[in-house]
Amino acid sequence: MSKILVTGGAGFIGSNFIHYWLFNHPEDSIINYDKLTYAGNLDNLTDIENSPNYTFINGDIGDPQKINSALKDVDVVVNFAAESHVDRSIIDPAPFIKTNVSATQVLLSAALDAKVKRFHHISTDEVFGSLDLDSKEKFSESTRYDPRSPYAATKAASDHLVRAYHHTYNLPITITNCSNNFGPYHFPEKLIPLAITNLLEGKKVPVYGDGLYVRDWLYVEDHCSAIDLVLSGGKVGETYCIGIDMNIPNIDVIKKILKILGKPQSDIQYVKDRPGHDRRYAIDSTKIKKELGWQPKHDFDSALQLTVDWYQEHKDWWQKLKKKEKDYYEKQYDKR
Ligand SMILES: NC(=O)c1ccc[n+]([C@@H]2O[C@H](COP(=O)([O-])OP(=O)(O)OC[C@H]3O[C@@H](n4cnc5c(N)ncnc54)[C@H](O)[C@@H]3O)[C@@H](O)[C@H]2O)c1
Repeated sequence: MSKILVTGGAGFIGSNFIHYWLFNHPEDSIINYDKLTYAGNLDNLTDIENSPNYTFINGDIGDPQKINSALKDVDVVVNFAAESHVDRSIIDPAPFIKTNVSATQVLLSAALDAKVKRFHHISTDEVFGSLDLDSKEKFSESTRYDPRSPYAATKAASDHLVRAYHHTYNLPITITNCSNNFGPYHFPEKLIPLAITNLLEGKKVPVYGDGLYVRDWLYVEDHCSAIDLVLSGGKVGETYCIGIDMNIPNIDVIKKILKILGKPQSDIQYVKDRPGHDRRYAIDSTKIKKELGWQPKHDFDSALQLTVDWYQEHKDWWQKLKKKEKDYYEKQYDKR
């Protein structure tokens, strides 16, 4: 029986992880510690909010007093808390440095003081930079860091800090660097939920530049099962890359969504490119597969269908969020 503190558990991946964990490990208890920024949403957790083994604390990981007291008797920290949207980091990097770097250091020190048995840090493939479209290269645990957006730079800094706390102070850490996730509770500012919800609203789908930006899309539940394996069998101090080895351009992802929803290709609207847009990410997940036996359960097409179904069935959930963030959507896409 473990007591797990999940930071950022009201966000997309964190809330999926809490659902996954309580379902697969009902003997454990979870504290969800979240600042509830624009991306934090307790509606993601209404079905489990009264579970006896679930507690919510509204707090900032950069608040030393609050995080110290939340960490009392905690065995494991899983750190999802972050500013996570590249476009927002281009508009204003400051909150990214505050949370992803400075506040992460406060959390690390608190975890060290609390003598947690494991500190697991959730990171991204974006720390590795960008690959050429025509290369066969993939990112792996030994790839040199080369972050290019303010978001990626702050995530890279947080990875370095996490490793530094291991090497300097013996904090028992693990890190996972994962590719793009998609699935339920994905904030509708990100590519896949933006496309689905725009189409369901009868709007066009904005696609940056030529649309030939290649990503490895992982269904969020498969990310959760990978973290589970790293927590149970991963080696302290190690990093594991997670992805499903499928690389399709954004434009083809959008075409698949149009097909599922029976919408015409004229619903695609090419918009001015994101500055410094990384061309291609690809992940080699041999290490986690070989050492921990991880295998994704979902292929991209069936998971995309599940995701579209979820957004069709949960209109109240995303309509509220889009209304609240109306100014952001107008500024980001209507100026082009
Ligand atoms: N979404 C992806 O495709 C992806 C892929 C790889 C890695 N990641 C990483 O996974 C993690 C979760 O990503 P996500 O997409 O769920 O993000 P998200 O933006 O949906 O959620 C982030 C959560 O963190 C909370 N938060 C932000 N600042 C905080 C602070 N200072 N203190 C406490 N809570 C705070 C927010 O309220 C929100 O609930 C991030 O670290 C991200 O870098 C995301």
